[in-house]
Amino acid sequence: MSDLSQSVTPSPTAKTAAPDESPKKTLNGAGEKIGAVTVASLRDEFPYFADENAVVYLDSASSAQKARVGLDAMNDLYRHHYANVHRGAYRLSAESTAAFENARRQIARFLDAENSREIIFTRGTTEAINLVAGSLGEQMSPGDEIIVSELEHHSNLVPWQLLAERRKLKLRFWKIDARARLALADLAPLLGARTRLLAMTHVSNAFGTITPAAEAAAMARDAGALVLIDGAQAVPHLSVSVRELGADFYAFSGHKLYAPSGIGALWGRGEVLETMPPWQGGGEMITEVSLARSLYQPPPARFEAGTPPIAEAVALGAVCEWLMTLPRELLRTRLHGIFARAHELLSATAGVEVYGAGVAESAPTFSFNIADAHPHDLATYLDSHGVAVRTGHHCAQPALAALGLEATARASFGLYNNTADAERLAETVAAAANFFKR
Ligand SMILES: Cc1ncc(COP(=O)(O)O)c(C=O)c1O
Repeated sequence: MSDLSQSVTPSPTAKTAAPDESPKKTLNGAGEKIGAVTVASLRDEFPYFADENAVVYLDSASSAQKARVGLDAMNDLYRHHYANVHRGAYRLSAESTAAFENARRQIARFLDAENSREIIFTRGTTEAINLVAGSLGEQMSPGDEIIVSELEHHSNLVPWQLLAERRKLKLRFWKIDARARLALADLAPLLGARTRLLAMTHVSNAFGTITPAAEAAAMARDAGALVLIDGAQAVPHLSVSVRELGADFYAFSGHKLYAPSGIGALWGRGEVLETMPPWQGGGEMITEVSLARSLYQPPPARFEAGTPPIAEAVALGAVCEWLMTLPRELLRTRLHGIFARAHELLSATAGVEVYGAGVAESAPTFSFNIADAHPHDLATYLDSHGVAVRTGHHCAQPALAALGLEATARASFGLYNNTADAERLAETVAAAANFFKR
């Protein structure tokens, strides 16, 4: 039986070459060193790519391939330490609870939160945002205003539309420009005495735009509003410090961060969470229940009714811990270079239109179309050549509509991608543009 500590501390990260062993150079740079890891050893940490039929995976913004460390942590918990959490008076339940609560601390460190009690486990970003709407939102009064950016994924728009309908609130929209960017000058006139909340993304899922989230948060807080940032697309690429960002809520999903699906987290500023009522009722969120009424736990338990996805949480914690051991700034620069290469090649290809803010203002995700085919046909062509991209409206219909678009193809990159993937994408899209040419 494995030691419990192994399920909650990172397994050895990507192996480094022994000092006397010079890294093997290959055509796609597998031996290239990035701090203490190599491109090849990093890719080895993602078991999917051991499959000789692995595709060129360029859909990480939708859901990323899984890191070994998370799969191992999940497997270890289920095999050796599994019981329900916060319930049993026996050793196994204490082990499971310790692993679960350790994951909360790992996530708190990953986000640079002040206290792990500010981390609430959710099913993902969607549930985290619905939690805030369902709890904080119920304290809002008719006529109160919520500002939502036009760049949002539907999961950071629809919950506010539902709430606005329920509570007779007014939604105000922070519009994007023709390159899918948000200008702070356009936010200023929207802020007013009735503004209760600014809800905005940190990175656009459709176009990759990195938004001025910290500056916007400061402006909104100066105006007396709370700030929720959707970090689903940011945490895989940016080093996020919720303390530095200055928002009140930060939401993300594990499955886009190389961890399993079904788990994510909401960070909430401690003093704000304290004032919020429960949003779901059930087991474990109470201190006392009678037939007449119930008393509730303090956060985070107040917001975690029912049995949580325990192993998934432990896996997410392990992945966060592992990511913190990697040379993240170097990896970010490397991935940005790969993304820039794909962007540059496609921008220079006849019959291809690339959208968005450009590489300097974007995380490694971008949208494009070819002149003579619907993006779904393009994606089918790419798939038949072993390249996986996402197509459609990317659950961001208002953002696409603002640029006069209904659908695009989207390429998004993850830690396991390499320059060869960028070049393969560009070659295959160029071939498709030629194939479909009228
Ligand atoms: C920016 C953004 N927000 C929210 C979501 C919703 O995430 P989930 O489906 O994991 O809840 C996504 C997923 O694509 C996203 O990209």
